[in-house]
Amino acid sequence: MTVLYLVKYIAASPRSQLTSSTRIMEIINCSPRDRATVASLLWMTEKESYIVKTVLTGIKPTGVPHVGNYFGAIKPAVGAAGTSGDASFLFIADYHALTTVKNAKELKQHVREIACTWLACGLDVNKTAFYCQSSVSEIFELATILSNYTPKGLLNRAHAYKDIVQNKGKGDEEVNMGLFNYPVLMAADILAFGTTHVPVGKDQKQHVEIAQSIARAFNAVHGDILTVPAVQIKDDVAVVPGLDGRKMSKSYGNQIPLFCSSKELESYVKKVVTDSSLPTEPKSIDMDIFKIYKLFATKEELKVMEQKFKTGVGWGDVKKELFRVAEREIAPLREKYEYYMANYNEVEKVLLDGAEKAGGRAKKVLDKVRCAVGVI
Ligand code: TRP
Repeated sequence: MTVLYLVKYIAASPRSQLTSSTRIMEIINCSPRDRATVASLLWMTEKESYIVKTVLTGIKPTGVPHVGNYFGAIKPAVGAAGTSGDASFLFIADYHALTTVKNAKELKQHVREIACTWLACGLDVNKTAFYCQSSVSEIFELATILSNYTPKGLLNRAHAYKDIVQNKGKGDEEVNMGLFNYPVLMAADILAFGTTHVPVGKDQKQHVEIAQSIARAFNAVHGDILTVPAVQIKDDVAVVPGLDGRKMSKSYGNQIPLFCSSKELESYVKKVVTDSSLPTEPKSIDMDIFKIYKLFATKEELKVMEQKFKTGVGWGDVKKELFRVAEREIAPLREKYEYYMANYNEVEKVLLDGAEKAGGRAKKVLDKVRCAVGVI
């Protein structure tokens, strides 16, 4: 069927209109039997057709992004999104946030902040489908189906749940089912799009492994329907030190918000921990302030600063220079962020466009799944 559809489709569209993402969609949705034919119709060799990736990741909207999130997650992801012809999906996991956020205003605010941050940081929405999870209803239908292929024991072993009952000493009465089922919903987020690669931090590895298990369990019953995704652990991400010497993290309260005012940024920079050495004394480049400077500075600026650290420099001067480079990078993003926050209707439109793209893809997967289980 796919082949027939493709022949008609290609006959109707000039080659130039076949964008790489349409080609990717067709390849991923075709049956293994038709792959060689479909690939050749799309001017690809069969081998090339296997290189095509679908990369997907989600962000839980639980607070204002900070400088650590920017260097550790946002900047690298924006740089990588949709490169080398990959199909790329990035979404705001608003239903996942419901496990902890129980205030509508707060949730809306978090979603706005996340959406505006990613756009301000340059996410190219022509290359990436950027959407809110809650706008793609196929995900939730798939989650309901998948829960029937998920052993309860698998979820008992999920870290977040286990941590609450084992380490925090809470009983099952205090665990909501949203939290317990979190990995099933996350599996649906991933499997609804035929995702091949899921880039996540180490803390999310187990969740993606659960998604793999669920996909295999489903396929064991119904045949090769769901794509088993690979987990891509982002090991080489920048670990950004916070204001108190520990890793910058919301849970430590040691963060520098990415989009505070220029004045506030200056005062945050002043709070970065230094020591009591005199300006004439040499300083170690292992100090956090140097590590933070390194993230914002150019190579040449870094060399100059390294030299100053060797020969001696006053902390006041270092902080002034750190503020200068930080403000240089953040100011243009802040301006866009403020624009998007003030014109949120534009952002909503972008998210809805993304949801439409994503929904189209999810529908194809869901149709196969519904058919396999017998609900159509
Ligand atoms: N659980 C992820 C986190 O807390 C967010 C998330 C939800 C996600 N669904 C996903 C990440 C699917 C990758 C793929 O960070």
